[in-house]
Amino acid sequence: MTSIIEKRRSLHKNLATQKLRNNTLKLQISQLQALANIGATTCMVAHEINNLLTAPATYAALAISNPQDKPIAEKAMQKTVKNCQRAAKILESMLSLANSQENDKQNIRPVILIEEIFNALGRDFAKDNISVEIQIPDDLEVWAIPIQFQQVLMNLILNARDAMLSRGGTLKISAEDKSDSVCLQICDTGSGIKPADLENIFDLFFTTKKAAKKSGETSSGSGLGLAFCKKIMDEHHGQINVQSELGKSTVFKLTLPKAQSGNN
Ligand SMILES: Nc1ncnc2c1ncn2[C@@H]1O[C@H](COP(=O)(O)OP(=O)(O)OP(=O)(O)O)[C@@H](O)[C@H]1O
Ligand SMILES: [Mg+2]
Repeated sequence: MTSIIEKRRSLHKNLATQKLRNNTLKLQISQLQALANIGATTCMVAHEINNLLTAPATYAALAISNPQDKPIAEKAMQKTVKNCQRAAKILESMLSLANSQENDKQNIRPVILIEEIFNALGRDFAKDNISVEIQIPDDLEVWAIPIQFQQVLMNLILNARDAMLSRGGTLKISAEDKSDSVCLQICDTGSGIKPADLENIFDLFFTTKKAAKKSGETSSGSGLGLAFCKKIMDEHHGQINVQSELGKSTVFKLTLPKAQSGNN
């Protein structure tokens, strides 16, 4: 009898110890998850800022080697000011993404965001034999956080350009107004994606650009762009999908909620 009572006591004690251990482990997991989020966000912020530094650096170098050319110096300064302002906005918006705070979403016109992206990028696509077609109604609006949605578009545009660098091609950006959502498509006629890679491309750090060449310079991808796009689209309750034919073309489809009436 005594032994049964003792056994029960010991079992209860054991259970209490396991529960305590379990709670400690849960706490550690949530702390590690928070750290992992900070790590991933830091990488993403660095990645996006890096995208913006290329243009001012290129123009500034041109201005230094052409000291008499005032228009180039002016352009270098304009690019620097504009891209620094954008970088500051990205920092603010990415940090709030890390803390899972809901920034103010707005009704925004994708045409404007896309125009700004092409102004922020340093190199003209035509120089790499890439023609750009934009087929988006001027007044079409989506419901999104402007700077974040712009980062999605910028990453997709940069990937499309990378895929067409070796032989040129066409980048087509179009939009369709559906009944309760807006669907944007970013299509390129570049290298395409291997079927086996398609399921990995949204993973953090997945890249096939380890030793690729970009406009004559050796460059490498960090595999952050699409992971970042996916995170932003999820936060927007939107979707990002891809279809690709190896050696032929790739289409990224973005679905976002429609603009909200009375919220401008
Ligand atoms: N339009 C595209 N055409 C062909 N392959 C693509 C395209 N977009 C993405 N990919 C593939 O998906 C991979 C992951 O893209 P992601 O943008 O996440 O990283 P990255 O471009 O390699 O590097 P980063 O964007 O961090 O500089 C790319 O390395 C490439 O293999
Ligand atoms: Mg990329």
